[in-house]
Amino acid sequence: MEQQTSQERKKVIFSAIQPSGTITLGNYFGALKNWVQLQDEFNCVFALADLHTITVRQEPAKFRSNIYEAYALLLACGIDVEKSAFFIQSHVSAHSQLAWVLNCYTQFGELSRMTQFKDKSAKHSDNVNAGLFTYPSLMAADILLYQADMVPVGADQKQHLELTRNIAERFNGIYGNVFKAPEPYIPKVGARIMSLQDPTKKMSKSDENANSYIAVLDKPEVIMKKFKRAITDSEAKVRFGEGKDGINNLMGIYSSVTGKTMQEIEAEFDGKGYGDFKIAVGEAVVEHLRPIQERFNIYINDKAYLKECYQKSAEFAERIAQRTLDKVMKKIGFVARS
Ligand code: TYM
Repeated sequence: MEQQTSQERKKVIFSAIQPSGTITLGNYFGALKNWVQLQDEFNCVFALADLHTITVRQEPAKFRSNIYEAYALLLACGIDVEKSAFFIQSHVSAHSQLAWVLNCYTQFGELSRMTQFKDKSAKHSDNVNAGLFTYPSLMAADILLYQADMVPVGADQKQHLELTRNIAERFNGIYGNVFKAPEPYIPKVGARIMSLQDPTKKMSKSDENANSYIAVLDKPEVIMKKFKRAITDSEAKVRFGEGKDGINNLMGIYSSVTGKTMQEIEAEFDGKGYGDFKIAVGEAVVEHLRPIQERFNIYINDKAYLKECYQKSAEFAERIAQRTLDKVMKKIGFVARS
């Protein structure tokens, strides 16, 4: 990622993903595919949000292998460290430091209203820890450290981004112009890929039913099988509309892969049944993922290369992050060590 003078400043993009398990088609179409496309036009900074992941208890060996796997998979999707920074969040300590500071500028009421907190605390009722509650201030720290203009995410992260803007504006209101207030960048199609087994729920990598999601690394036969089992409706007509959550979702996936509009898809499958449609969706997804899976198999076996990439990116990210953190500390009134 090049450094530029302020006059020719390209817009800055920041986003992150948790290495909390297998990465799904929801993550891919909601976020990752956009990250890859934005790299040519903008200054992009991407992170693996490993600090966020420990808000849910992790088994150490599995957690470590998930981090490597997610890193290799994002490279395989097309994140290019020659164009963008792509680092591991815990390698840049400014994230934790700014998160603490921002916790002191975030209200209990604001955090209590976060739907993700409500959902996750219901799901993990035996471990409603303080990190789960203050998770959005760490996310705000991630974004604000890089003065990001835009944050490409799926629709489920919109509320966290609104909170980030509120925190930034509140802080700026007290101390002057310290943070850039970021805008969400949410795709028109693919912003909310739903579960294949319950299309009223979002597709999630932490879903216990593996038939509900497609993992980017699922084998072709598994992908085909999961699509064939996807829940639809009894109308037997490929049409986008109300009460057709399952078909709407499959049409959204097909549209994300092929770039076709809903009308084009309806025309293509006019007079055909759901069986044919599901096979077409499955095959399109398999073909789209095939080169990603092939590249993944190369990267995951080259830990030395992965290390080279995440170290170089962390060094780059650290310089920017530290600059923002120093400014924040000074504005608040802390005494600098040096
Ligand atoms: P995470 O890891 O849950 O998801 C990563 C990205 O994938 C998107 N996404 C989806 N998009 C469409 N359909 C779905 N079913 C679907 N499921 C997930 C998410 O919206 C996200 O863009 N808190 C974040 C990670 C994070 C972050 C940040 C993001 C940490 N710091 C700073 C942006 C900026 C998370 O847990 O995403």
